[in-house]
Amino acid sequence: MSKKVRWGILSTSKFARTKVIPALQRAETLEIAAICSRDAEKAKAHAAEFGIHAAYGSYEELIADPLLDVIYNPLPNHMHVEWSVRAAAAGKHVLCEKPLGMSAAEVTQLIEARDKHGIVIGEAFMVATHPQWEFVRTAVAEGRIGELRAVQGFFSYNNLDPTNIRNIADFGGGAMMDIGCYPIFTSRYVIGREPRGVAGLVERDPQFGTDRLASAMLDYGEVQCQFVCSTQATPYQRMHFSGTKGRIEVEIPFNAPPDRPTRVFVDDGRDVFGTGVETVTFDTCDQYTIEGEAFSAAVRGERPVPVSLESALGNMRVIESVFESARDRRWVELIR
Ligand SMILES: NC(=O)c1ccc[n+]([C@@H]2O[C@H](COP(=O)([O-])OP(=O)(O)OC[C@H]3O[C@@H](n4cnc5c(N)ncnc54)[C@H](OP(=O)(O)O)[C@@H]3O)[C@@H](O)[C@H]2O)c1
Repeated sequence: MSKKVRWGILSTSKFARTKVIPALQRAETLEIAAICSRDAEKAKAHAAEFGIHAAYGSYEELIADPLLDVIYNPLPNHMHVEWSVRAAAAGKHVLCEKPLGMSAAEVTQLIEARDKHGIVIGEAFMVATHPQWEFVRTAVAEGRIGELRAVQGFFSYNNLDPTNIRNIADFGGGAMMDIGCYPIFTSRYVIGREPRGVAGLVERDPQFGTDRLASAMLDYGEVQCQFVCSTQATPYQRMHFSGTKGRIEVEIPFNAPPDRPTRVFVDDGRDVFGTGVETVTFDTCDQYTIEGEAFSAAVRGERPVPVSLESALGNMRVIESVFESARDRRWVELIR
């Protein structure tokens, strides 16, 4: 396939408009050929804003467009699987936002649709193709910090808007689904296997019913991971990987900025004052552009999909287990 991969944007999601569409429009191997909305006027207005050729007033029309190769799905979480299945049935490849669905059972439905229709579907964990995370995974695998022992994460923001999808329980809102999924994903990505057990602690907003504060411990055997996430705490994010001989810290692990370099600190552990810290700097890049190029390459058969549905299933099982553990106040075994 020498022509550009043609993408359609499923809705006028704020995140798509502010981050993904501009990033994809800087990619060389793809073009955004269409956008849609439940509201035709909104679709037209945003098509004009971004110079997108086609604007549709319904999701059905977008996924039926025969000129499109890929549907990018940034709908609210409870609509991810339904519309990804519908796009797959229309023969379209799908890059679907995280978290991929509401449950592991839902992800399994999408795996069945992918296999039935023979298309490519991936979860949009953009971190997987950011150079800083490829560096961390390789450095740990090569033993740069000795044997990995502990992973610690934190991810928070403060959002009290009752109309935001993150504060609507029926839409799959809450901290663990929205942002706890990242420490889960990046720990699995770096360690390279699934945790065998999970313990979770969840505190819910009395008005929204969503988890506004949630913590988890993931048992990876000789590696233990712990993290805290919150939708009602001062914005912060950090990931630490501690080994027998050193330590790696990712400064902005998830919302890596598109307009300045990112940094990873590698500490050789010689003292507690940071004397042995080397700062590894990654050139300015847009992780959503890289994600779009990588997914387009997967569609062309040039590489595997960056984050497969099997990976999405692993992540979703952990998320489900955190809630099960918190509810029952006990460990949940994933691998017996
Ligand atoms: N990977 C990342 O870095 C990242 C970052 C942020 C968000 N996300 C993911 O992106 C997705 C969208 O997040 P967002 O912040 O862009 O949300 P948003 O602004 O609320 O966008 C969701 C869109 O879905 C459509 N929609 C259909 N039915 C809806 C309903 N009943 N209520 C509300 N919207 C409905 C709307 O588009 P129309 O009105 O045009 O139909 C709306 O604009 C989420 O899954 C989120 O987890 C990913």
